[in-house]
Amino acid sequence: MKSWVQSHLHVGLIVGVLLVLLTYLIVSEQAATTSGTRVVTTVAEWLVDKQLSEGTSGTVVTAEAQQIVNKQLIQAPSETEKPTKVLCSTEERLSDYCELDGDVRIRGRAWSVDVVPSTWSERREWKIRPYSRRSATHVDMVNVTQLQGPSAAAPACTVTYDVPAIIFALGGYSGNVFHDHADVLLPLFYLSRQYGREVQLLVINRVQPWWLGKYALALRRMSRYDIVNLDGDTHVRCFRRVTVGLRLHKDFGIVPEQVPGGVRLAMPDFTRFLREAYSLPRGATTSLTDPSKKPRLMLIQRQPHRRFLNEKEIVAAAEEAGFEVAVTELRIDAAVDAQARLVNSFDAILGLHGAGMTNEVFLPPGGVLIQVVPLGKLDLMARVEYGEPAAEMGLKYLCYNITVQESSLLEELGPDDPAITDPDSVHRRGWAALYDIYLTRQDVRLDIAHLKLTLAEAMEHLRRQ
Ligand SMILES: *[C@@H]1O[C@H](CO)[C@@H](O)[C@H](O)[C@H]1NC(C)=O
Ligand SMILES: *[C@@H]1O[C@H](CO)[C@@H](O)[C@H](O)[C@H]1NC(C)=O
Repeated sequence: MKSWVQSHLHVGLIVGVLLVLLTYLIVSEQAATTSGTRVVTTVAEWLVDKQLSEGTSGTVVTAEAQQIVNKQLIQAPSETEKPTKVLCSTEERLSDYCELDGDVRIRGRAWSVDVVPSTWSERREWKIRPYSRRSATHVDMVNVTQLQGPSAAAPACTVTYDVPAIIFALGGYSGNVFHDHADVLLPLFYLSRQYGREVQLLVINRVQPWWLGKYALALRRMSRYDIVNLDGDTHVRCFRRVTVGLRLHKDFGIVPEQVPGGVRLAMPDFTRFLREAYSLPRGATTSLTDPSKKPRLMLIQRQPHRRFLNEKEIVAAAEEAGFEVAVTELRIDAAVDAQARLVNSFDAILGLHGAGMTNEVFLPPGGVLIQVVPLGKLDLMARVEYGEPAAEMGLKYLCYNITVQESSLLEELGPDDPAITDPDSVHRRGWAALYDIYLTRQDVRLDIAHLKLTLAEAMEHLRRQ
C-alpha cells in the first residue's frame, strides 16, 4: 500500500514538472498561481494515458470507443441544404472542440455559438474552451448550443459568410514560443489545410495584437482573409461550417490519421509550411561531399539563466569536430522571420532545455538537435516537448544528460543538498521549487570529453545525409 502511494505521489511530482513547463513561461498571463492544482490532474491523466498507449493497445481502443459514444451526431437531411451536423468532443486527453455544419451563428461578445437545426431537434449545450489545452483553465469557455428547431429564437445574422470558420483562443499558454507553435500554429495548420486558405479565422480571449503581428506570415498562409477579433464583437456572424477550438493530437505533433478533411499531413509538412511562410531557402543540410564545406552548428545561449559556463571550450570542441560554430542569444522580441532565416542557415542546434529548442522547426530536414538536459529529472519534459517532435520532423535528436559534476548547483548547494542527492524531493515540493532550483538557478559546465562523443555522433549523422 505504501509503495502504491509513493509511486503515485511520484507521478504527481513529475506532473509538477510538466506543469512548470506549461505555465512558467507564460509571458502574458498572471494567473499561474491559481492554475497549479488543476493542471496537475490533467498531466497525471496524460502520464497514465501515455503509459497505456505504450503498453497494451486494448485499453486505448476502449478509450476511443468511449470518445465516439460521447460525440453527438445529428443528421437532418433536407432537399435544399446540407444536413445539420453537430460533433462535439470533450473526452480527449488534451483538447475540447466542436465541428459544426449547418446554420451556425456566432456572437463574440456573448462567447456563444448557436446551431439552428433544419428540423426539430433536442436542445443541447456544450462548454468548449477554445484554447487547445483544456488545462489552460484561465481561458473562458464558449457556449455551443444546438437550438431546438428552425423556429427557436435565434439571433438574426448581421454578417453572412460563404467560407468556413475556425474559432480559437489566444491567452492560455501562448506568448511562449513553444506553446505558440505547439498549441496554436500547428493545430491551426493541420485544421486549415483542407480549406486551401479559403477559411475565416476568428480569434477570442484578450487577443494580443502583437501576437497576431508576430505570426502574421504564417497565419496569412493559412487564410487569405483578415483575422476577426471576437472580443466584444457585437455582430452575429453566420457560417455554414465552423470549428470551435483547436484539437491537439499530442503535446507537439501530428497524428496523420487524425488530420481532418482527408488530408494526410505529418510534421515534415508543418516545417515545410514554415519554410514557405518565411521564405527559408534551405530544405536540406549542407552537402558534405565538397570537403571545403563545413556543417554549421548554432550554440544557443539562454539569458539570464540556464547558461553554458564554458562557452569557449564548447565552441573549440565543436570546431575541432568539424563544425563552423556561431553562438546566438535568442531574443524573445526578435522578428520571427529573421530568426527563422538565421536558424535555417545552420545544420545543427546545441542548446540547454527550454523554449529556445523550438527553433528546431526552422532547421533543414536531416539536421541535428542536441538538447542538453540539466540536473533535476527533467528528461521526460525534454523528450516529449522537443526530442520526439524533432525526430518526427526528420531531424536527428541527441539527448545530452548532464551529470552532477556539470551542474553549477553542486558548487552552489554542496554535495549533500537534497536538490543534488534527491531530485524527487524537490519535485515533491511542487513546481515553484522545481522551477526555481533547476530551471532558474542552474547553469551548466559541459564535460568536453562527453560532449565530443555527442558532437561526433552529430557529425556522423550529417555526413550520411
Ligand atoms: C452559457 O450557458 C450557461 C448555462 O449552461 C448560462 O448560464 C450562461 O449564461 C451562458 N452564457 C452565455 C454567454 O450565454
Ligand atoms: C537521459 O536520461 C534519461 C532518464 O534517466 C534516460 O531515459 C535516457 O536514456 C538518457 N539519455 C541518454 C542519451 O543518456
